[in-house]
Amino acid sequence: MSVQFEVNGKPVAVDVEPRLTLADCLRHHLRLTGTHVGCEHGVCGACTVLVDGAAVRSCLMLAVQAENAKVITIEGLSLKDSLTPLQASFRKHHALQCGFCTPGMIITAHALLSEEPDCNADRVREVLSPTCR
Ligand code: FES
Repeated sequence: MSVQFEVNGKPVAVDVEPRLTLADCLRHHLRLTGTHVGCEHGVCGACTVLVDGAAVRSCLMLAVQAENAKVITIEGLSLKDSLTPLQASFRKHHALQCGFCTPGMIITAHALLSEEPDCNADRVREVLSPTCR
């Protein structure tokens, strides 16, 4: 099947098997390997991307479901030559851990702060808690 959507501000069209996940489409068809795949069943959050502004586990979404959507991956959140304030804060506070799930954590935190810029630490813990412990 052919599916068309936007990734990090660029239109893409890919031919995929109907059962291909968005995570595998991003990684293997579009070479956006910043999206990591861990548990493959929606628990760890490593594969989280933004789909039309919402944080979505891309291992639980089929690529064909992204038709006409705007997808942002960790590559799309980055600035050209410097860390974003959120990335810099992760670095400053040693929040990277092993680094495998960091892209998903940053995407999840970005979505939270976009929706709830004044959220408190308990809310941040609540939202990030399913993401890599
Ligand atoms: S790989 Fe998608 S939630 Fe773990």
